[in-house]
Amino acid sequence: MNVQEVAAQYGEYLIEKRRYFHQHPEVSTKEYHTSKAIKEALDEIGVSWRPCGLETGVLVTIQGAKPGKTILLRGDMDALTVQETTGAPYASKNEGIMHACGHDCHIAMLLTATRILHDMKEELCGTVKLAFQPAEEVALGAKSMVEQGALDGVDACFAIHVWTDVKSGMVSLEAGPRMASADEFHITVKGKGCHGAQPERGVDAAVVTAAIINNLQSVISREISPMDPAVVTVGTIQAGTRWNVVAENSYMTGTTRCFSNEVWETFEERMERVIKGTAEAYRAEAELEYLRIVPPTVNDEAVVSIAQKSAVAVLGENCLASNPATTGGEDFSYFMQRVPGAIALLGTGNEACGAVWPNHSGNFCVDEEQLLKGAMLYAQVAMDFNAQ
Ligand code: NI
Repeated sequence: MNVQEVAAQYGEYLIEKRRYFHQHPEVSTKEYHTSKAIKEALDEIGVSWRPCGLETGVLVTIQGAKPGKTILLRGDMDALTVQETTGAPYASKNEGIMHACGHDCHIAMLLTATRILHDMKEELCGTVKLAFQPAEEVALGAKSMVEQGALDGVDACFAIHVWTDVKSGMVSLEAGPRMASADEFHITVKGKGCHGAQPERGVDAAVVTAAIINNLQSVISREISPMDPAVVTVGTIQAGTRWNVVAENSYMTGTTRCFSNEVWETFEERMERVIKGTAEAYRAEAELEYLRIVPPTVNDEAVVSIAQKSAVAVLGENCLASNPATTGGEDFSYFMQRVPGAIALLGTGNEACGAVWPNHSGNFCVDEEQLLKGAMLYAQVAMDFNAQ
């Protein structure tokens, strides 16, 4: 039996699960009902699992009969505070909450992959860990699963995201940067207030703020290679209290984005140097609080090359699509910081069934016909990676 033959009997199971989870979406970190339903489904299949990741994550282990490597397959399970407007018969029953990023599909595909791999244990090499991950949208789930040992003994990791911009029947499985980092920062400037007519008696935090914003842009233009796209954005500024008073303090918030781990690692140090140095030049003081929210998602070349062959085996000869990297973040990168891995974008865009809306839209929907291919891809990648 091969993966396709085993998967053929689970088409209805997958759709039924997908629609069930779609009807019962829950927001990040609060996936209690979802987690319970996943555990019940796993008990039905008869695989062993343990809680892992925040309060709702679940980690399954399937041991193959033959020796081999260990891979972790990940599916996320949280929904968004989006009002569903699809009018689908299986639309969300939870007012104002919707699986608008397709994580319902990921749960159903991973459950189906669990069934396939469980059925194929005799042919399976090594160990497969299947991670039902909470809280992707707030970038807390992957980190927590890693902290709770999900990657112990794991050689590689693999995830799938359903993707409208990739056409049905195709899959984007490409090496290198796929999604950007997304960090948050806060800058506080301390000057000295005085009469607006006598600036020499104070230290103007507003002028320091302007200089800091300008100088931060030179981190991008003069310190980072133009071949490595990166962004520093100051999104908010608060300074001063009155039109005729020199501002004593200022407060800024902003975000950084980049596609390489090397740049991501250095952002905080570079910014801190520029911010403190600029403040000092103006006789002020400044503090940077830099919050690392999510690293860039960079697909490993070796894992991609194996997974591409797996994709061709289950999706067919011409299934590999090319899709540009996106500036959205994906917390699967926390797994990929520790072990080599890849994320595949499974094509679910199909005009014929209205699957044209972007992720996070209230109209978001997928070409359900494609989901079994996602389950097969998960299973095939595990079979192939562990065997080599
Ligand atoms: Ni998503």
